[in-house]
Amino acid sequence: MVGAGAAGLYAALVAAGTGARVALISRSPLAQTASYWAQGGIAAALAADDSVERHLDDTLAAGRAMAHASAARVLCEESPGRVGDLQELGVSFDADRGGDLALGLEGGHSRRRVVHAGGAATGRRITRDLSALAATDERIDVLEPLAASSLATHNGRCVGLIARPRRGDPVGVLARAVVLATGGMAALWERSTNPRGAIGAGLSLAHGAGADLADLEFMQFHPTAVRHDGPRDGFLITEAVRGEGATLVNAAGERFVDELAPRDQVALAIEAELERSGERAVGLDVRGVEMDRFPNIAAVLEEVGIDPRRDLVPVAPAAHYTMGGVAADLDGRSSVPGLYAVGESACSGLHGANRLASNSLA
Ligand code: SIN
Repeated sequence: MVGAGAAGLYAALVAAGTGARVALISRSPLAQTASYWAQGGIAAALAADDSVERHLDDTLAAGRAMAHASAARVLCEESPGRVGDLQELGVSFDADRGGDLALGLEGGHSRRRVVHAGGAATGRRITRDLSALAATDERIDVLEPLAASSLATHNGRCVGLIARPRRGDPVGVLARAVVLATGGMAALWERSTNPRGAIGAGLSLAHGAGADLADLEFMQFHPTAVRHDGPRDGFLITEAVRGEGATLVNAAGERFVDELAPRDQVALAIEAELERSGERAVGLDVRGVEMDRFPNIAAVLEEVGIDPRRDLVPVAPAAHYTMGGVAADLDGRSSVPGLYAVGESACSGLHGANRLASNSLA
């Protein structure tokens, strides 16, 4: 397993649970994976007024006629069960006052269907809990920090990989199967919500081994990343904040877009507004939102000197999610036997040209 974000950890635990021995190779500490920073939750049709078909329709609509319906159906059908699996593994999702799972609303969703953990800290909680399980699973050897530098192939089959520690000689790992869970490449863009390591390393490895890549022309931009002259530039303000009533306003203080449209539409509307006005940011008005529910966002806003009870938050789109990746079937198989891809590094066609919010952790 290459990569220790949510997809890699979960796949490692599932493989170990079926009896496999797993070497989990991680280049960076947990806090540098994109999953760790994921603020969105997991989209799952759990509400009484929701259904798999509705979730599917919303996923296909956001995908702009490019999504594979068969792949999207798998996600929409299985997501509620996977939320249950994560609960059984010990992940605790936020509950409403009645003790049921609290369901949030995000762009492009026609129903409330996003479960969160710790407000906007879902990725952090999931990766923390799954890492603890992986670290103590005797069938999983965690090898870190170790960066996979090439895949080994023999007679057209992937048989392992070469990896480099920070210091010292490269090591070889032989394996019956290699799973890439290396995330995307949004950090190649000037402004990105992703950690710096998200440069498409897994896509390069797969390409070097002869695997097909797909849909690389589609990059998703998140509409509301903080605009700041400093290290917090690109910090994500989750769509869930707009789901709770935050609005977007231009320099004249006027709303200019449906804040809960799919995120490609919202990002394009902001970009058009910035081009028209010559400004660097539009304002996200969170003054009507209980920001205590999003403590990690409130903490960062305080750090950069923005008082969400008083100030508009300056935001602009930033590269967020790689729609394309290693071409993979519904079991994660790439075009090279023995090589698999999961999570953001894989392209099953599920998301089409534009991913629906919170379908990534799902
Ligand atoms: C967000 O919370 O707005 C981002 C979640 C996602 O990328 O789906």
